[in-house]
Amino acid sequence: MAITDEEALPAGNYDRMKELKAFDESKAGVKGLVDAGVEKIPRIFIRPPDEEHYEGSDSDPTHLQIPAIDLTGVQNSIIRRGEIVEAIKQASETWGFFQVVNHGVPISVLEEMIEGTKRFNEEDDEVKREYYTRDREKKVLFSSNFDLYKSPAANWRDSLHCVMAPDPPSPDELPLACRDVMMEYSKHMIRLGNTLFELLSEALGLQPNHLKEMDCAKGHSIVCHYYPACPEPDLTLGITKHSDPDFLTVLLQDHIGGLQVLQQNKWVDVQPMHGALVVNIGDILQLITNDKLKSVEHRVLANRIGPRISVACFFTTHFSPNTRLYGPIKELLSDENPPIYREVTVKDFHIYLRSKGLDGKSALSHFKI
Ligand code: OGA
Ligand code: NI
Repeated sequence: MAITDEEALPAGNYDRMKELKAFDESKAGVKGLVDAGVEKIPRIFIRPPDEEHYEGSDSDPTHLQIPAIDLTGVQNSIIRRGEIVEAIKQASETWGFFQVVNHGVPISVLEEMIEGTKRFNEEDDEVKREYYTRDREKKVLFSSNFDLYKSPAANWRDSLHCVMAPDPPSPDELPLACRDVMMEYSKHMIRLGNTLFELLSEALGLQPNHLKEMDCAKGHSIVCHYYPACPEPDLTLGITKHSDPDFLTVLLQDHIGGLQVLQQNKWVDVQPMHGALVVNIGDILQLITNDKLKSVEHRVLANRIGPRISVACFFTTHFSPNTRLYGPIKELLSDENPPIYREVTVKDFHIYLRSKGLDGKSALSHFKI
């Protein structure tokens, strides 16, 4: 029999284990605690002190901001496309993050996606419970803290995960509260994903179709996050520091804020911008570009004000059987720039990541030659 996440816990942690189980078995997530009126956060959510010391963004006098890139004209002006490719190259090689505007996804769809996420999370517990599971074989699943039994501290958020491409679920597998918009949003993500992977290929000096031909745009999951208001925001986090284990992430966030990116040892706020989408490079894109593009660590603060809603679209294929090996792209290598990673399948990358849990450390270094 497979070892379950629970059995893998270090021995001697019984109290914590009991509390984790009670929380998990409520199937009501963090929102359930907030609805029950907790004024102190349960200790399973209390974060350990940071190992490294980073300065908070409020002590940053320069007010750094991740670049915002306007995609207007990307398909019909060679000059504009060249400028956009250059801006994406700069941003992806340094920040690993940028925002895009005029990306072709109608603002009404963005707003409805946020509303649909809110509607689902604010349904009666019985409705949400039907989707609550840790069975990763499910295409549609609701859970709080996918790594609940592994991580040192639970995060103050609940999430609905939907595997949407290449094989979408049938619409009736999706919760009614967000069914239509999820199908619609996914179509837009396929189109935008194709455009972004073309632009990234060009930014790397490759043929526009190079990354698409490597199946980078082939699959995606859409994860709807709900960060309830938190009574003691300084003691926990919305999500612990991490980098994304995919090719690329496109994130929609509402107006509340709290997402921060680590830049030169400082946390920099990603300011919410109405109508914009946040794009970030994932670990596997960093691996195949031999560190040319950067998968940068980020986190979300908990907040007294809430709920905060965000919707992440992860371009990855780990949920479909795929034996394709990913290593540094040959065209990017030279005598001066030899490969620094070995080849790995997306699936094995995830298996390693899961065995490790969200411990704030990157999975990439494990695959270094
Ligand atoms: C993620 C993530 C940020 C956010 O889901 O990987 O970093 O703002 N989300 O929700
Ligand atoms: Ni992330």
